[in-house]
Amino acid sequence: MPISITRLAEAHIPSAVTAIQEAFKDDPYNLWVYNDRAKLDLNRNRVSLGIRCKWGIRNALFYVAKDTSSDAKDEVLGIAMWMPPRPTELKESWAERFEGWRMWAQQVRMNLWYGRGGLNVKRYWIWKAKQSEAQNEIWTDPRGYYFLNIMVVLPGQQGKGIGKALAGEVTKLADQEGKRCYLESSRDVPNMKIYEAMGFHFVEQMDCDDDGEVCKLFCMVREPQSVPPT
Ligand SMILES: CC(C)(COP(=O)(O)OP(=O)(O)OC[C@H]1O[C@@H](n2cnc3c(N)ncnc32)[C@H](O)[C@@H]1OP(=O)(O)O)[C@@H](O)C(=O)NCCC(=O)NCCS
Repeated sequence: MPISITRLAEAHIPSAVTAIQEAFKDDPYNLWVYNDRAKLDLNRNRVSLGIRCKWGIRNALFYVAKDTSSDAKDEVLGIAMWMPPRPTELKESWAERFEGWRMWAQQVRMNLWYGRGGLNVKRYWIWKAKQSEAQNEIWTDPRGYYFLNIMVVLPGQQGKGIGKALAGEVTKLADQEGKRCYLESSRDVPNMKIYEAMGFHFVEQMDCDDDGEVCKLFCMVREPQSVPPT
């Protein structure tokens, strides 16, 4: 199957959201943070992911994988959203703040309309606090890290090299710039092996503990690799 990797465009969003929902159906973090499954509202979840994708077009390095031989030209097989590295001394710009507020306002509007859709808000904040703790500890490189925030491949398309091709768009860039990459995986098996094949190594386990119900996340870092001379 011929695969192309391009930047996410508005037309890809519905299919990108479907890929995220399908790939994360039984994801341990998803099951932990949406633990009351009777309240899970997939429509609200689609709207929320759509807001994130639109924000990602403007603020992230957001790639999609497509089958170029398919007639469905906007159908997406997988996605990877990376946050660009932020040097420690760089302060948040007004434009970035505005983008943050804009996404926040859209989410507030969505919550007013749909409610929380089954999201366990306490657990969400436990995760946020742990994430910030882990990143403060691990991100010692003052030049910052390319942060692989979301990566999924549709369940029927996994194991065919699509994830590696998606991640490669940014790992290539990181290697050219001599910068590090970072991710938090919600599974050790098989994801750690998969990410090791992309050059990452395990650094720390993040335990998000809600009164004994623990969600484990596995923090991994990738060192820049030497680029062969052209
Ligand atoms: C994780 C994920 C994005 C990887 O994408 P993928 O297309 O399946 O991965 P690839 O086919 O590109 O495989 C990359 C490498 O991992 C290896 N690999 C793939 N599946 C593997 C498995 N189950 N066990 C061990 N190694 C595996 C491949 O052989 C390849 O290594 P190689 O280049 O040395 O041959 C995809 O499996 C997925 O969406 N999983 C569910 C959602 C998820 O967990 N997302 C990540 C959240 S942190």
